Amino acid sequence: MSDEIWKLGPSEARARLAELARVLSAANDAYHRDDAPDLSDADYDALKRENAALEAAFPELKRDDSPSEQVGAPISDGFSKVTHAERMLSLGNAFDADDVAEFTRFIRNFLGLTAAEQLAFTAEPKIDGLSLSLRYEHGKLVQAATRGDGSVGENVTANARTIIDIPQVVENAPEIMEIRGEVYMSHADFQALNARQEASNAKVFANPRNAAAGSLRQLDAEITRARPLRFFAYAWGELSAPLADTQFGAIERMKALGFQTNPLTRLCTATDELLSHYAEIEQGRADLGYDIDGVVYKLNDLDLQRRLGMRATTPRWAIAHKFPAELAWTWLEAIDIQVGRTGALSPVARLQPVTVGGVVVSNATLHNEDYINGLDSKGQVIRDGKDIRVGDWVQVYRAGDVIPKIADVDLAKRPEAATKYVFPDACPECGSDALREEGDAVRRCTGGLICPAQAVEKLKHFVSRAAFDIEGLGAKQVEQFYLDGWVKEPADIFRLQERYGSGMQQLKNRDGWGAKSAEKLFQAIEDKREIEMRRLIFGLGIRHIGEVAAGDLAKHFGSWSALVARVDAARPAGAAERRAEEAVMAERRRAAEEGRRAQIAATREAAWHGVASEARAAWDEITGIDGIGATVAMALVTTFGQSAERASIDRLTDMLTIKEEVVADASGSPVAGKTVVFTGSLEKMTRAEAKAQAERLGAKFSGSVSAKTDLLVAGPGAGSKAKKAADLGVETIDEDAWLALIGDG
Ligand code: IVH
Repeated sequence: MSDEIWKLGPSEARARLAELARVLSAANDAYHRDDAPDLSDADYDALKRENAALEAAFPELKRDDSPSEQVGAPISDGFSKVTHAERMLSLGNAFDADDVAEFTRFIRNFLGLTAAEQLAFTAEPKIDGLSLSLRYEHGKLVQAATRGDGSVGENVTANARTIIDIPQVVENAPEIMEIRGEVYMSHADFQALNARQEASNAKVFANPRNAAAGSLRQLDAEITRARPLRFFAYAWGELSAPLADTQFGAIERMKALGFQTNPLTRLCTATDELLSHYAEIEQGRADLGYDIDGVVYKLNDLDLQRRLGMRATTPRWAIAHKFPAELAWTWLEAIDIQVGRTGALSPVARLQPVTVGGVVVSNATLHNEDYINGLDSKGQVIRDGKDIRVGDWVQVYRAGDVIPKIADVDLAKRPEAATKYVFPDACPECGSDALREEGDAVRRCTGGLICPAQAVEKLKHFVSRAAFDIEGLGAKQVEQFYLDGWVKEPADIFRLQERYGSGMQQLKNRDGWGAKSAEKLFQAIEDKREIEMRRLIFGLGIRHIGEVAAGDLAKHFGSWSALVARVDAARPAGAAERRAEEAVMAERRRAAEEGRRAQIAATREAAWHGVASEARAAWDEITGIDGIGATVAMALVTTFGQSAERASIDRLTDMLTIKEEVVADASGSPVAGKTVVFTGSLEKMTRAEAKAQAERLGAKFSGSVSAKTDLLVAGPGAGSKAKKAADLGVETIDEDAWLALIGDG
């Protein structure tokens, strides 16, 4: 995966980050708010990991709503809210021994330890349940709250009081004491509960975690009482006095106070010891009687934990070492082709349903023609080159994408009659030619607006949340309007009232439509007649233009007319760019065949010959926008240059008032937005600590002094950087002044 990341350009990376934010936020809601996960943990983790890797590769593209900044999901209605005195954290993940070694190495570096200095860690099972914070005042349980989004959770005190592992009164405890841990359900209790549920025709839970979550979050505590929930204590929040000075000591103290702590908790020193305890826990996993999904390692010394502090939502001093993703074998019954908004023909494997990691899977993505034939998007061999055929016995792997993948094919079980899959060269929806362009793994329908699949998908995209977001007009309604012949293109939405106002009321009795709902819909549509430019650009559903690219374009051009003028002016250059790309590819091939060096620059230049300088300047302006590359620019000029498509866009924009872009103003701590450089030796913290601190406060950290530097923090022994800062007139302060400035002195 990380190999692929390095090949992405910034605009692709942005688009992928936007997509990941969307998918992960929906998955968070499904998991935490609705107790109905639509992704396996392995999938979720893989996406989170991809997101983190992308953010590491493109730190400047990190989104304000970055999934790495989010813990859990917003709370649901029904329970009162509890603001946690101390945020409830999540954990970073390790997936293999290298990640674990990196975790311990990072901690040693951060703390500036010498090789001789030993570190100790606790290792304990990661319970697959839901976290709960219990607040005791003067030894009495006064409040129990779920994690919620980490800051604000749900008040489930009455329910928590029904859990046998949770003491109502504790003796010899600090006056204020918040104990945190995991609520879970044992396998035996889960099976018995599901049997009871089934017998009474009630909801059957997918797994013990969902059963625990659903049981704890009952508005009627008596229902919770009837559900056998358990609780393991492993962490704490606000305390009026420390429980101990080590993690291990704190766990022992919690046990002495009457809480259940996990008996598999060990104190380890070297990375090897952590890994062997992991192996031991993994071995015994099936016999535990409850679900665990990994092993958590925590730095033992609480003073050192404090020094390490946190990232946005995860502590630097702890990590969850997850168990590997799950696999399953099943039959591939059929291959269907779906046509997307951009005309891409996507093959989908229909599988005999199989449970993978607790979720029933009956579809898997086959990506494209090459993938079916055993090649990845770069033409590299995958699955040892084995192709996929209808009738095959296939291994399903849930990770890395919303839809599961086929990891392997068992050729020994291939039915004799199974023939190589022939990818269609006509669109299954409209019959138009489906073509593959050179260098594109995807076959696309050329039908454009006459293809119903593209039109419907385009409309669904147009009304989606990040686009026009019209209340009462979701994917289902817009599809129905399309089938009724009322809405064929986005502009039709804004003509609905004028054309069908009273007719709409005939929808009564269908999908709950009535005079009132039609009126409400018309109002909602009116409300969106004035629209932000970025939403409009995104809503058009142009290939490669996701939310972020749409925002970048809006920010750059400010007004719709400016954007249209420049895109139109750049059209000849766009065509030249495409010609150049094709010519360069052909030249490369020829040169390779003839055994000579390819003449790239000259070939490119020839393709650009005769292009007016105005077109060139417009093209350079678009491709010069931060985050926008030739791919996006090409998609833009092509779309605006296609006459049917363009007429449809013009019909839409004629009916809209497009708001100009306003840039948000960022303010906050005294160093927010400032570029800070540290130099010389720091005495109260390591460089990594200083950097983390600066970034937490919204400052930008840089390694070198330039005219853009706002502040230099210079310790003893500062040399050339301090001199340069003085020359440039950059404000220079010492470590103590820095600590005073940020309020930590
Ligand atoms: S420690 C400051 N320890 O895993 C660290 N978490 O993926 C807070 N979890 O939100 C968490 N077993 O719900 C910790 N032994 C354990 C755990 C554990 C399960 C859950 C917890 C947390 C999530 C993070």
